[in-house]
Amino acid sequence: MAVGMFDSGLGGLTVLAAVQKRLPDVPFVYLGDNAHAPYGVRTPDDIFNLTTAAVERLWAEGCDLVILACNTASAAALKRMQETWVPADKRVLGVFVPMIEAVTERQWGDNSPPREVAVKHVALFATPATVASRAFQRELAFRAIGVDVEAQPCGGVVDAIEQGDEILAEALVRSHVEALKRRMPQPQAAVLGCTHYPLMEHVFADALGPGVKVYSQPSLVAESLADYLQRRPDMLGAGKVSRFLTTGDPRAVSTRATQFMRRPVAFEAA
Ligand code: DGL
Repeated sequence: MAVGMFDSGLGGLTVLAAVQKRLPDVPFVYLGDNAHAPYGVRTPDDIFNLTTAAVERLWAEGCDLVILACNTASAAALKRMQETWVPADKRVLGVFVPMIEAVTERQWGDNSPPREVAVKHVALFATPATVASRAFQRELAFRAIGVDVEAQPCGGVVDAIEQGDEILAEALVRSHVEALKRRMPQPQAAVLGCTHYPLMEHVFADALGPGVKVYSQPSLVAESLADYLQRRPDMLGAGKVSRFLTTGDPRAVSTRATQFMRRPVAFEAA
């Protein structure tokens, strides 16, 4: 009964931690495509090809349900995967929609027409590929009207995190927040639209200042997955063992994962 969880690298571990806390009896197989991270500077075709290869690897682990704990893959590849590629007995879900439902104060699966919501000025921080896809604005428009979104492509942040350089990651986050604030001086809410960014959430919050509500995905995705599995327990696949797999160097990836998660994490070669 394992569930698969995929990210280009370490970022999805932020989602995995919240999901494991919420669903302690469910085994998860995590796959980080560290050999090809970052995805945020790749083309949509490239992201589609890498993501489908990784999802197939997780299916081979007995995970019929795979969560793309990666906004870039969710934004650039998921729609195409669901429409053209995922077989009927498997499911691939992304991390975008639970966050947009939270921003727009919607219950899960509320498909009523778009309406006015309390928040009017939203800052989106994401990878260049996620920003270019405009998937956030598209999904938001299905649910809310009158929301002004200013998106900041945060080049370099994922690389710095993957390389274990917290000082560089912090400096880059501060400069991206400054750049956004020049265009939108007073956002009401900030969306951390990359699963690597919760590792820097305190820096985003500090640079944004008080009065900005910061939405980060891990707990939102955990709640929505718990809700999904309650309705679809048949999607718990045959796998029984939790594992951490990487396409990169398992030793180096384990060291950096342990550094960022502040607990021991041991990766194996995918
Ligand atoms: N964690 C991925 C995301 O949520 C990072 C993408 C990347 O590899 O650039 O977008």
